[in-house]
Amino acid sequence: MSEPMRTHRCGELRREHVGQEVSVCGWVGRRREHGEHLAFIDLRDHSGVVQCVVDGAADLRSEFVVRISGTLRVRPEGTANAALPTGDVEIGDCTVEILSRAEPPPFPIDERADGVDETVRLRYRYLDLRRERMQRNLRIRAKVNGAIRGAMDRQDFVEVETPMLMPSTPEGAREFLVPSRQVPGSFYALPQSPQLFKQLLMVGGTDRYYQIARCLRDEDLRADRQYEFMQLDAEASFVTQDEVLAFISDAVLDAAEAVTGERPPPIDAITWHEAMDRYGTDKPDLRFGLELVDVTSVFTATEFKAFGSAEAIKALCVPGASADFGRNRLDALTDRAKGVGAKGLVWMRVGEGGALDSPVAKFLSEAEQAALVAETAATDGDLLLLVADGWHIACEVLGTLRNDLGRPPVHEGPYRYVWVVDFPMFVGQDDAGRPKPAHHPFTRPHADDLDRLESDPMSVRSMAYDLVLNGWELGSGSIRIHEPALQQRVFDLLGIDEEEAQQRFGFFLTPFRYGAPPHGGFAFGIDRLAAILAGEENIREVIAFPKPQSGIDPMTQAPTPVDPKVLSDLGLRALPPTT
Ligand code: AMO
Ligand code: AMP
Repeated sequence: MSEPMRTHRCGELRREHVGQEVSVCGWVGRRREHGEHLAFIDLRDHSGVVQCVVDGAADLRSEFVVRISGTLRVRPEGTANAALPTGDVEIGDCTVEILSRAEPPPFPIDERADGVDETVRLRYRYLDLRRERMQRNLRIRAKVNGAIRGAMDRQDFVEVETPMLMPSTPEGAREFLVPSRQVPGSFYALPQSPQLFKQLLMVGGTDRYYQIARCLRDEDLRADRQYEFMQLDAEASFVTQDEVLAFISDAVLDAAEAVTGERPPPIDAITWHEAMDRYGTDKPDLRFGLELVDVTSVFTATEFKAFGSAEAIKALCVPGASADFGRNRLDALTDRAKGVGAKGLVWMRVGEGGALDSPVAKFLSEAEQAALVAETAATDGDLLLLVADGWHIACEVLGTLRNDLGRPPVHEGPYRYVWVVDFPMFVGQDDAGRPKPAHHPFTRPHADDLDRLESDPMSVRSMAYDLVLNGWELGSGSIRIHEPALQQRVFDLLGIDEEEAQQRFGFFLTPFRYGAPPHGGFAFGIDRLAAILAGEENIREVIAFPKPQSGIDPMTQAPTPVDPKVLSDLGLRALPPTT
C-alpha cells in the first residue's frame, strides 16, 4: 500500500501532536520572512491554517499547492497566537513538495475578500470558496441537509425524485421553459416546486413522501431569492395539520441543533390574525417587542376627522424615542408610512404625566388622550405613532415601521421560530374583482368556514400555514383539497370553469376521481435556513455557485446565445434583442 499524502488536516494540529512527524497538504497563505533563508508560511486547507517554518522558501508563492512534512513543535515562548486553534504549535524541519504552481490570485484568499466586489468574487468563485467563511457555510448547509434526511427517514418518509421536465402549471411565479426537440414549438416547464407530483404521490398510495428538491422560478433576484433554490418538500396522507407541523418542526429543529449544537425550544403557533394584529405582518420577527396596540375603541366618538371614520386605529409606542425624533426623522417616518399605503401618520411625543405633544393633540379630548396613554402604556419620553385605516392596511403600515425601528440584523440574538396558522383563503382581488388565493388554489378551506365560501369568501380561513424564523418566511404548506367537487367550488370562485380547469390542469385533476386520500404537506427553503443559521444576510453566501442580482453568472457567462443551427433543430429562431 502506498503512503497517504497527508497525516493530518492543517487546522487539526494541537499540542498533543507535538513531537510527531506530520505531513499536511494545502495552499500557501500568508508568509513572513525571517532572516535570509527562513520563512514562516501559513499553510491552509478547508480545516484551517498551520504555521510551517521553511528553510529556502524563495520559490513558494501565494496559493501554490504544496505538501509539507516535518516535526510538530511548540512555538517558542511569546510567539503563540491565541486567535488561531493551531496557534500554540508549528511544523519545523520542513520538506516542501510543490504539487501545483499558481498565478497571483485576483484578491487575497482571506477575510479581506469580504470587501471585494461580489461580481469579482463570483467570477473567481473557486478561489472565493477556498476561504474559511465559504468552507464553513458549505459545511453548515451539508449539516442541514444531513439532519433533514435523518429526521424524515426516522419519521417514515420515503425519498422520491420527481421530474424536472413537466408541463406548465399555476403556482404564482414565472417559469423557465425548455424547448422540445421531438415536438418542435412545444415546451417543458421546469418545476417551481414538486407540488403537483407530490400530491399525485399521495393518490399513488405513497403515504409519506419527502425530497430535497431543486426548484426553479424566474423571479427578480434578491437577498432571499435565487432562480434555483432547494426545498425540503414533504407531503403526507391521513394527517392532521398539527401532525404536519410536528414533523416539519422536528426536521427544522434537528437541522438547527446539528449546526448550532443547541436544540431550540418547541415552535409555538400563532394565528395569521394575531400575527397581523400584534406585529403587522405575516412574517413576525419575535426577537423584539414593540408590539402594535389596537386603540380603535379609544376613538369611537372622536371629533378628529382622520380617526372618525376609520375601521381600525393602530398604535406603536416606541420607548424613549421622543428625543431622538426631530422634525426631519418624523417627516421621513410619515413618508415611509405613506409609501407603504397609509393616508397619514400621527405622531405624539409623550411628556411628563402623559401630556401629549403633537400637532393633532388639540383635536383630541382629554379623555381620549388619557385613554390612549393608558392603552399603549406610554410613559414620559416615549414616541407614539398612530395609523387609522382599514384594519389590514393599518396593521401592515405599522408593521413596516416596527421592523424599520426595531429589527436587528438577521445574525443577532436568539433564533425565534414561529408557526403562523389559519391564513385567510384569499387576499385581495384580481382585476375582474375575483378573490386571489393566498397560497395556491389546491389549499383546503377551513372546515368551520366552508359554508361561507361563496357568500363571504374573504372571511374564509384556509388550512395554510407558514414557518417564520427571525422575520424571514422559511416555508409554507397546507392541507389540500382532495375532493373534486370542492376543488371545482374553489376554481369557480377564481373564475375557472370546469372546461378550463380540465384543459389547464386536467392531468392533475383526473387522478382525484380515482380515490384520493386526505393529505397535506409543506416545503421550506433550505437556502434560507442555512443562511440564517450561518449568520448570513444573503442566501448567495450559502450557495456554492449562485447567480448575482443580474442573473448572469460572471464565471460561466451563462446565459449565452446558441448556434442558430441548434435553435432551428428545436424549431426556434431568435428575435433580435429589443433594447
Ligand atoms: P412556496 O412557494 O411558499 O411553497 O415556497 C416554499 C419556500 O421555498 C423557499 N423559496 C425560495 N428560496 C429561494 N429563492 C426563491 N426564489 C424561493 N422561492 C421560494 C422559501 C419558501 O418559503 N409547493 C409549495 C409548498 C406546499 O404547499 O407544500 C411551495 O413551493 O423558503
Ligand atoms: P389632515 O386632516 O389630512 O391634514 O391630517 C392631519 C394629521 O393626521 C396629519 O399629520 C396626517 O398625517 C394625519 N393623518 C391623516 N390621515 C390619517 C390616517 N388615516 N391615519 C393616521 N394619521 C392620519
